[in-house]
Amino acid sequence: MKNKDSRGHVRGESLFLDDINVRQGTLCGLVFDSPIAHGKIKNIDYSEAEKLDGIVKILTHNDIPGENQIGGIIPDEPLFAEDEVHYIGQPIAFIVADTLSIAKKARKLIKVEIEELPVITTAKEAFEKGLFISPLRKFELADTTKAFEDCNYVFEGETFTNGQEHLYLETQGSYAFPLENGNIKIISSTQGPTQVQKTCARVLGLSMHNIEVEVIRLGGGFGGKEDQATPWAVMAALGVKVLNRPVKIILERHDDMRMTGKRHPYSSRFKIGLNKQLKIIAFEAEFLQNSGAAADLSPAIAERTLFHATNSYFIPNVKVTVHSCKTNLPPNTAFRGFGGPQGMFVIEAAIAKASDKLNVPAYKIQEANLLADGDEFPFGQIAEHVESQNSWKQATTHFNLPEEERKIAVFNQENTHAKKGLAIMPICFGISFTNTPMNHARALVHIYQDGSVGISTGAVEMGQGVNTKMLQIVAMAFGIDPDKVKIETTNTTRVANTSPTAASSTADLNGKALLKACELLKDRLENVVQQKLKLNPETSVSFKENSVWVDGKKSSLGWKQLVMEAFLKRINLSEHAHYATPQIHFDKSKEKGHPFAYHVYGTSITTVTLDCIRGTYEFDAVEIVHDFGQSMNPGIDLGQVEGALVQGIGWLTMEEISYDKNGRLLSNTLSTYKVPDIYAVPDKVEIVPLETEGNEMAILKSKAVGEPPLMYGIGAYFAIQNAIRAFNPNSRLKFDAPFTPEKVLLSLYEQN
Ligand code: MTE
Ligand code: MOS
Repeated sequence: MKNKDSRGHVRGESLFLDDINVRQGTLCGLVFDSPIAHGKIKNIDYSEAEKLDGIVKILTHNDIPGENQIGGIIPDEPLFAEDEVHYIGQPIAFIVADTLSIAKKARKLIKVEIEELPVITTAKEAFEKGLFISPLRKFELADTTKAFEDCNYVFEGETFTNGQEHLYLETQGSYAFPLENGNIKIISSTQGPTQVQKTCARVLGLSMHNIEVEVIRLGGGFGGKEDQATPWAVMAALGVKVLNRPVKIILERHDDMRMTGKRHPYSSRFKIGLNKQLKIIAFEAEFLQNSGAAADLSPAIAERTLFHATNSYFIPNVKVTVHSCKTNLPPNTAFRGFGGPQGMFVIEAAIAKASDKLNVPAYKIQEANLLADGDEFPFGQIAEHVESQNSWKQATTHFNLPEEERKIAVFNQENTHAKKGLAIMPICFGISFTNTPMNHARALVHIYQDGSVGISTGAVEMGQGVNTKMLQIVAMAFGIDPDKVKIETTNTTRVANTSPTAASSTADLNGKALLKACELLKDRLENVVQQKLKLNPETSVSFKENSVWVDGKKSSLGWKQLVMEAFLKRINLSEHAHYATPQIHFDKSKEKGHPFAYHVYGTSITTVTLDCIRGTYEFDAVEIVHDFGQSMNPGIDLGQVEGALVQGIGWLTMEEISYDKNGRLLSNTLSTYKVPDIYAVPDKVEIVPLETEGNEMAILKSKAVGEPPLMYGIGAYFAIQNAIRAFNPNSRLKFDAPFTPEKVLLSLYEQN
């Protein structure tokens, strides 16, 4: 089935937050933020700004009726700065005005005096000064110290991966308005409606039932709206609470880029030990996460870095540590892969280093260490239904690796100023929120008396196609046409206490709850069929093609007629079902458990051609064998792999976040921050589904697909490195992403 949203998107008819007709008297909000990255607020003078005609009120921490606190995991983040500021872009006040242009004028008239304090922008500096967001985390398997002694080869190195701007097409925003009796409704562009509801209640001093949060759809989130859609929603709601008028805020791109956090930059160190057979015997890594000025989701992201530190490999002795380092940057946050990519880059760098020193292709080391059934992950989970070797074999045979290598060798021999490079990237990504209590969801299904159906779940549509998947589940379960099913908005009054749409788990969790609701309704309807057609209880009843089928044959009873029959019999045609992932658990005190329902696997082969005069490059091809399980929607799932791949390539090649030493974002526009466009997409992207059974823990055996393929992008980095080496064998190996053309050029002509 085609993505249900395609038509509306293409025709410009789909509704996003900014398309909603606003109520009469709606005010406009604008954030006044800190111009200094670290300091003590000495004085703020709002008087000139407040005098402007059209300024309704400038709200500060003094106007907060509840707690000035929006920190989710750790309460370390005020909504508005009080005495200190910790990053440029930190909200200090919320200007509420008749129009945006007046609010912008007012913002320029606010005078703030800040006594500056030292600014820290890198994780390394923070680490040296002992500035952390949360205590370190460490995963250990067996004994690395002893194991290193037995290794034939031991190599060490350092890596850096930079941040990444989410650049969702729709910037952050929200629209809040008063309901009766002091209640407030918020329409938010958030991945986490419940998080918005909960935080609003806390800041406004209300209960959760006073706040209704509604999400229509997002113009992209990519993790950037999991936690960081909340402040704007709370500010708008605060405006409503204080002024009793509707308030809307939509961030302009510059404000969004300056004020919001990004993918976490990581500075890391590794030590890898191998034996003569190229088996990795021991691996250690220390990850320094640049968390920014407040926790946000950093501790959870740090944890996932550890969960993926050995990627798709079995290593018998492992010690990996992560430090969440406190810096004066906007709090960094979730971004597709959620710390996993940062972890996986480091093990791939370690393998690249070993390959270089031992003078064997990296893929020989990768292949020799692929995970197998029964292997233990460093966090105690035993690997089951592993597809590492399968996907590797299918990729290297289907795409004929020896032939690709031969072609590259010939090309490199024949060309002096253009060189090609190749890299293989196996992936292994755990599915489930690593915080076990978050793995549950609910769905509400109404069958209306005319046979049409309305469904609500906790899933937020953000381009990943989850609504279409939900619709497919219901259409399939009831055997009715998809156009008989309506997906309602995501709303906290219909489905409560939701986990955010994240961790690639949304279709699994919400889909399984939805399927359960449908099954319960079907049971009731089957009873009606039995009575109506006077069947004996053994007769099998099913629903297909808008009809009731009895013992495999279509009966005269249609779906619509059956529903009306049930309605007249006063049967409940609504159901609300709950699903919680079984079997998963994790004990943080021991750092051991079984946190993932299953893993997603795959293997990509990336080839690149370098222009060795200019340092520019083009990707010839990325060929992928991906583990979709049994994809319930190949069109959507292919789109997810393609999008994630290109986003991953962007992270490792051209997207370069840059802050100056004062903590000011330099890459703050689309001219200084380059994301992949159609020309940056590899000339050939071929995605072949892995031949596999799928996994029962996945919805309809269709595995989660949102984040895992981003990590194929890591292959881009190593393909470039290999091509540089073909031109200049003297260049030093570097693990300093992104590999921008400037860095490539320097490497091409570097003399050691
Ligand atoms: N695809 C689109 N088009 N837009 C997005 O914002 N977010 C990604 C991924 N794919 C995203 C996307 C992220 S970060 C996650 S966690 C998953 O979608 C979430 O949705 P899912 O759980 O339904 O896969
Ligand atoms: Mo995705 S980073 O889990 O929102």
